[in-house]
Amino acid sequence: MRVGIINATGYIGMDLARLLLRHPEVEVAWVTGRGAAGQRLGEYLPHLDVGGIPILAEPGEADILFSALPHKSSAVALLPFIKQGTRVIDLSADFRLKDAAEYRRWYEVEHPSPSLLSQAVYGLPELRRAEIAAARILASPGCYPTATLLALAPAVKEGLLEPYIIVDAKSGVSGAGRGLTLNTHYSEANESVTAYALGGHRHHPEMFQELQSLNPALSPALTFLPHLIPMTRGILATCYALFRKRTSQAQIEELYQEFYLGAEFVKVVGSSPQTKQTLGSNRCLVHPVVDEAGARLVVLSALDNLVKGGGGQAVQCMNLMLGLPEATGLETLAIFP
Ligand SMILES: NC(=O)c1ccc[n+]([C@@H]2O[C@H](COP(=O)([O-])OP(=O)(O)OC[C@H]3O[C@@H](n4cnc5c(N)ncnc54)[C@H](OP(=O)(O)O)[C@@H]3O)[C@@H](O)[C@H]2O)c1
Repeated sequence: MRVGIINATGYIGMDLARLLLRHPEVEVAWVTGRGAAGQRLGEYLPHLDVGGIPILAEPGEADILFSALPHKSSAVALLPFIKQGTRVIDLSADFRLKDAAEYRRWYEVEHPSPSLLSQAVYGLPELRRAEIAAARILASPGCYPTATLLALAPAVKEGLLEPYIIVDAKSGVSGAGRGLTLNTHYSEANESVTAYALGGHRHHPEMFQELQSLNPALSPALTFLPHLIPMTRGILATCYALFRKRTSQAQIEELYQEFYLGAEFVKVVGSSPQTKQTLGSNRCLVHPVVDEAGARLVVLSALDNLVKGGGGQAVQCMNLMLGLPEATGLETLAIFP
């Protein structure tokens, strides 16, 4: 099975390449990159010096195609391949939202092919395993939505929560990509923490859409506030919600353990998770806590934004699409400390 990666010179594309180069069932045929076209991947990125993979200026042929381009460019690049029937996995936001008007509102561009949005499958395997297996267009979720949805899914699906939900999330700097900006500049990001997107973040509609799909009776009044933390990788999401009726810690633990029973990559843990416990791995650690009164739920979730929040999750979906065991090529445990 030959795979190609459009844009392997950004952080997501290169970490996806790292995983696919060691995947036992696929061969990376080529990657693309604009400035580095003509070089071998290992020349441009020495940590990926495996097998002399060419960096092309334009995508070639492949059995499965990944795109790690920025939004809008990604859908445009994938359209000809979708039309010819190639299965595609898009790591940008272009196929995540079902509503083209919502896409226009948050991304401030017209979707280049709105009619395809209904065909795309939202690639969160723990929630949509069967749909993903049959997908032709796979929309790989955003990093913050992955952490948030995995934290909240069991309680939301069970109908335990009031609609008012707060998600306070922290991300490492790689979440902003490789391009330099003032707020990711070392001297401004280091030894500093800041909240951003106070007026609304683009991942908000994605979380809303998926929470509502988990429980159509819930119209979530979701507050999502992201923060930039001076570390390279990792997301910690702290989600706060009120129960509709009194619920105990034991009930919640049982619900969460049962919901994620058999999930290779989501572990319900008994103590406050650290982002470092997920570094480089495809795991998400989830820790639900109920207050003494049984009135309030706090769920913490930690993951690596470039792996379970990015390339690792895309490979997990590819495995399902190819009928392979879900964990193939993703067995790496976290590097800790
Ligand atoms: N970072 C994360 O944690 C994360 C997680 C999940 C999903 N995503 C999504 O994954 C995609 C890539 O994110 P990233 O963080 O890897 O970005 P990135 O590191 O900022 O990628 C930047 C690279 O993309 C290429 N590029 C930029 N604009 C382009 C265009 N219009 N056409 C072609 N190539 C272009 C450039 O490489 P060349 O000049 O070498 O071609 C640039 O070096 C985005 O859609 C993002 O939303 C990111």
